Amino acid sequence: MHKIMWNFRQALTITLLCFNVLTSAQSNDKPNIVIILADDLGVDDVSFRGANQFLTPNIDALAYSGVILKNLYTAPMCTPSRSALLTGKYPIHTGMQHYVIPNYQPWGLPLNETTIAQVFKEHGYYTSIIGKWHQGFSRKAYTPTKRGFDQHFGYLGAYVDYYNQTLDATAQNLSLGHDFRDNLAVSREHVGTYVTDLLTDAATELISKHDATEKPLFLFLSELAPHAGNDDTPLQAPPEEVEKFAYIKDVNRRTYAAMVSKLDQSVGAVIDALANKGILNNTILLFLSDNGGPTAGLHATTASNYPFRGQKNSPWEGGIRSSGVIWSPLLENLGTVWKQQIYIGDLLPTLAAAANIQLDTQQMNLDGLNLWSALKYGYDAVEREIVHNIDDIFQYVSYGKGKWKFINGTTDDGIYDGWLSVRQNDNSAELDPRAANYKESIMNTTVWQHLTAINAKAALSGSANITKLRQDAAINCMLGNVTQHTACEPLVGPCLFDIDVDPCEHNNLYESMSDGTVVQELLKRVAYFRESAHAPNNKPLDPKCDPRLYDGEWTWWEDVQDGVDDDHNADGGDSAMNLRLNGLLLTLSFGTLFVINLLKYSCRL
Ligand SMILES: *[C@@H]1O[C@H](CO)[C@@H](O)[C@H](O)[C@H]1NC(C)=O
Ligand SMILES: *[C@@H]1O[C@H](CO)[C@@H](O)[C@H](O)[C@H]1NC(C)=O
Ligand SMILES: *[C@@H]1O[C@H](CO)[C@@H](O)[C@H](O)[C@H]1NC(C)=O
Ligand SMILES: *[C@@H]1O[C@H](CO)[C@@H](O)[C@H](O)[C@H]1NC(C)=O
Ligand SMILES: *[C@@H]1O[C@H](CO)[C@@H](O)[C@H](O)[C@H]1NC(C)=O
Ligand SMILES: *[C@@H]1O[C@H](CO)[C@@H](O)[C@H](O)[C@H]1NC(C)=O
Ligand SMILES: *[C@@H]1O[C@H](CO)[C@@H](O)[C@H](O)[C@H]1NC(C)=O
Ligand SMILES: *[C@@H]1O[C@H](CO)[C@@H](O)[C@H](O)[C@H]1NC(C)=O
Repeated sequence: MHKIMWNFRQALTITLLCFNVLTSAQSNDKPNIVIILADDLGVDDVSFRGANQFLTPNIDALAYSGVILKNLYTAPMCTPSRSALLTGKYPIHTGMQHYVIPNYQPWGLPLNETTIAQVFKEHGYYTSIIGKWHQGFSRKAYTPTKRGFDQHFGYLGAYVDYYNQTLDATAQNLSLGHDFRDNLAVSREHVGTYVTDLLTDAATELISKHDATEKPLFLFLSELAPHAGNDDTPLQAPPEEVEKFAYIKDVNRRTYAAMVSKLDQSVGAVIDALANKGILNNTILLFLSDNGGPTAGLHATTASNYPFRGQKNSPWEGGIRSSGVIWSPLLENLGTVWKQQIYIGDLLPTLAAAANIQLDTQQMNLDGLNLWSALKYGYDAVEREIVHNIDDIFQYVSYGKGKWKFINGTTDDGIYDGWLSVRQNDNSAELDPRAANYKESIMNTTVWQHLTAINAKAALSGSANITKLRQDAAINCMLGNVTQHTACEPLVGPCLFDIDVDPCEHNNLYESMSDGTVVQELLKRVAYFRESAHAPNNKPLDPKCDPRLYDGEWTWWEDVQDGVDDDHNADGGDSAMNLRLNGLLLTLSFGTLFVINLLKYSCRL
């Protein structure tokens, strides 16, 4: 009897122990997260919203098998938008609200801010950024592997040439400099390789080599495409890709179509790699652009934000709307269009919630909202308030709450204030030949096959109606029948729009409503946010950044100048130390792993 009791207790103890080991091992079931961020992609440069000039079959297949984020908002430019993605905060709250970081200015995302990479890394993820950073590099401390990323393969500055990975600053009386690194080490061996291919290959290689059962993957594929290159050759694509779009007469638009096509292929290759690795069914995939496309002006690419008003670097919807898509078997409403307004800064708390990471959002002072549950079940949760920007240097405000949008002032004297994009109509000679068999072209992609196979297995809406989704994702300028248009001239006076019926910002309601509570409340909120804003971090050009002083490299020049770091090409003197430390950690973790596996083994016995 005694013996049996003892055995029972022993069995119980062992069972509990085994239970602990097995459940803790299950923390590795956390979803992998793959964010593919396009750079300066116009809202209408994907085909899932109805454009037929050139198709994006892989992105569209992702859209129709996932959830289309119809009302996704970003900041109007690269640096602020990426800062919001990384921190979950409005750029006005981190000093990132004004313009971007040119390679020659010594500033970056403030070092006391916590990034999304830190959050996921702290919760057991392997964090990688492949491609563009653009959050500062004048000091090494600003660079991605010092900001929570385990890996960075790509460039630190604003953009690079698609083939030789240089950024030309001769217009500033500086030189042209190379900007491409493998972690901290300068990597020149890729000169000559088309950057979109380079980043795609790095991403698929990481996916195929990474053991996601040990550590879930957080991959931020931050594409160059379809941002312009240097001013002398802004549009660059492989000639054989450009040839596919020979029916497009304008050579710039034709080349741009090829750049977007390479981006689309990149999305396809990443999804194929996840499927081949067998981890697609435990992955959250997100595709979006950092801001609207530049149709005109600086770094113009022929990008189209049709039918919206404005473009990149403007207060209008054309600057701050992104054609975004999310897919994951965790979502219960795959194959739908979600109409809830969502802000790029919502992604941090939303993805954290998806991964079961508890955040102290109060303490973190996040502006982003956790919309995971609304997204998962497909309902509208909140009347989202979004500070698009308060920029007292450019002197404009763009702010939205629910259907109301307030604009006062604009950028660059209003040169981007028009409806800058047109769309090829159905009779145009410039339509993608694949558009004639649109549905088949989408369903023919490996992306469609991989994703719908999982959708079907999860018994979710695997039979999406592509025609209907494409109609629902389209933007209709006049849902109401606004017959009387009052023009908005933001340099003359403030403007108010009802974005629900007038997303193209034709009809200014400000004067007719200025005495009402709607306007009074909006103005109060804008005043409140202006009060809470951090001063912009921007700094003047520092000539000491000049790449000719550092073997033609863009590097952390402030550290080199201060003698903190005399090796601008690599990971300075602390690398040997790191190596030893990593070795020690590796030994420790192998030891732990051994014990866990031993326990698992005896548990199974
Ligand atoms: C970072 O420091 C600045 C002042 O330098 C401050 O305004 C800001 O609130 C700090 N941010 C955090 C997250 O502590
Ligand atoms: C890189 O290519 C650009 C044109 O795209 C050219 O202006 C520049 O001189 C090249 N730089 C190097 C270092 O080859
Ligand atoms: C570059 O140098 C030229 C000649 O010295 C000068 O005229 C020009 O203003 C300088 N440009 C900048 C951006 O500093
Ligand atoms: C994903 O697929 C793999 C291979 O088919 C399977 O072993 C695994 O259990 C699946 N995971 C989930 C979360 O469905
Ligand atoms: C609009 O901006 C102008 C110029 O900055 C300012 O004088 C005015 O008070 C603003 N109007 C409102 C309603 O905020
Ligand atoms: C679909 O793929 C098959 C096989 O690759 C090909 O023969 C067919 O032409 C494709 N159809 C479309 C509409 O792309
Ligand atoms: C798909 O949606 C379109 C447009 O709403 C509709 O005409 C068509 O009947 C639908 N097809 C199916 C199979 O439900
Ligand atoms: C459309 O216009 C007519 C006449 O101006 C008006 O009676 C009707 O209410 C309007 N409908 C909407 C949805 O605004």
